[in-house]
Amino acid sequence: MSVVVLDFGSQYTLLIARRLRELGAFSVVLPGDSPLVEVERHRPRALILSGGPASVFDSDAYGPDPTLLDAGLPILGICYGMQYLAHHFGGEVKSGGRREYGRARLVRYEGPLFAGISGPLQVWMSHTDAVTHPPPGWEVIAETEDNPVAAIAAPDGRTFGVQFHPEVVHTDHGTQILANFLGVASVSRDWSPSEVLDRIVSETRSQAGRGRALVGVSGGVDSSALALLLARAGIDHVAVFVDHGLLRLGEREEVEAALRGLGVNLVVVDAADRFLRALRGKVDPEEKRKVIGQEFIAAFKEVARAHGPFAFLAQGTLYPDVIESAGSTKAAVIKSHHNVGGLPKEMGFRLVEPFRYLFKDEVREVARLLGLPDSIRLRHPFPGPGLAVRILGEVTPKRLQVLRQADAIFTDALKEWGLYGQVWQALAVLTPLRSVGVVGDRRHYGYVLALRAVTSTDGMTADWARLPYAFLDDVACRITRRVPEIGRVVYDITGKPPATIEWE
Ligand code: XMP
Repeated sequence: MSVVVLDFGSQYTLLIARRLRELGAFSVVLPGDSPLVEVERHRPRALILSGGPASVFDSDAYGPDPTLLDAGLPILGICYGMQYLAHHFGGEVKSGGRREYGRARLVRYEGPLFAGISGPLQVWMSHTDAVTHPPPGWEVIAETEDNPVAAIAAPDGRTFGVQFHPEVVHTDHGTQILANFLGVASVSRDWSPSEVLDRIVSETRSQAGRGRALVGVSGGVDSSALALLLARAGIDHVAVFVDHGLLRLGEREEVEAALRGLGVNLVVVDAADRFLRALRGKVDPEEKRKVIGQEFIAAFKEVARAHGPFAFLAQGTLYPDVIESAGSTKAAVIKSHHNVGGLPKEMGFRLVEPFRYLFKDEVREVARLLGLPDSIRLRHPFPGPGLAVRILGEVTPKRLQVLRQADAIFTDALKEWGLYGQVWQALAVLTPLRSVGVVGDRRHYGYVLALRAVTSTDGMTADWARLPYAFLDDVACRITRRVPEIGRVVYDITGKPPATIEWE
């Protein structure tokens, strides 16, 4: 049983699904024009029509399968979704009126959708078209100063439209409004990572049958949790961890200890020499990435051959990747990250993707239940090509050693100061610049090292973290004292955009 969110291309669609999951209601996102049979496959208990850039006046107005709107399901239309409902059921929508964008205040609201809420209610608006008259028999249940029809309710008492976005944090009590809708729709709220773990384990077990599984482990939370899941499910497996020599200090040892200790059959491939050889003389970032990708696949294939045959490959695909690659959204294309999970399509394996319905924070929770230590579970994201994209220019063993030390000092200090969990990602970048300094009485030319720490929710956009001066001072002192090759430390204060998080 689920709540089906039909996606009409709003940038907030995924957020709707997340909020519902946080409320304990399992939700799936499907393309807005999915046919009835496809929607029914997910056993919907209620429908949500998302917002989107379209207009009901477009000649090819993008809408749900009309039979869905008459299927007797409770429906909540958000923004464009509300306009579509109003238009479909005979109300009036006006186009190109005054654009309402940003915060607005509901001056009146009533009915079960707003149960438990009182006082002035700030909501988030983002629309140009507007509903001017509700369909016959429908009621207007909210208005703002500028918009007399900010929410509507159908006579069945279970279908609603809201012009504002309850899923964004800028709407006061938005989660309560969604919870009220779930209540009216009698949606059960028993979805939680602990409930789903047993289900995922048994589903994966039945998909695997008696077959042997291959899984690539990068040391990140998704692939580590996946390997643990296979172990927990009692599936015969080989987890491959390719040590490309571009990892952080102690990373390999930590992953080995944690996974082996929890029953994962881990094979570590010591491929550092091979990667470094292939990287010799390469200075172009894209070329470096390409070489690493190729070497990675080659190393992975060799292990697969040596330990096979395998019936399938387990992949740590997450729900946002599924939605993105299904092309369901008409929103702007989001950058996709290449990681271990994405590689061996051409290897012809059958795929098993136990996390394909989970969000990242849900995987973190599943990982906790599976016993993954917090040091790995809560670790900052780390790019597949590792430290190679944090050494500007050529990657050499010496430079790797310098960066690895500096990175570890930065990370340890963040943890000591209680700042590690407050930033999305923190990294050190070794630049090829040499700058002058004084050591003792002599001039000394040392590398310039850049520190970068950012706050973000998904890595797509980011702001530089306002780390305390005293902390930055402490880190700069520690690094220059303990890593003599580094002569100068700078802090990156650029947001994304215009910069990216990584320097290469
Ligand atoms: P950028 O630098 O594009 O990074 O702002 C966004 C997020 O993606 C990570 N990143 C990568 N991850 N392979 C990966 O697996 C890559 O080539 C790669 N490049 C960047 C980066 O660390 C950040 O979390």
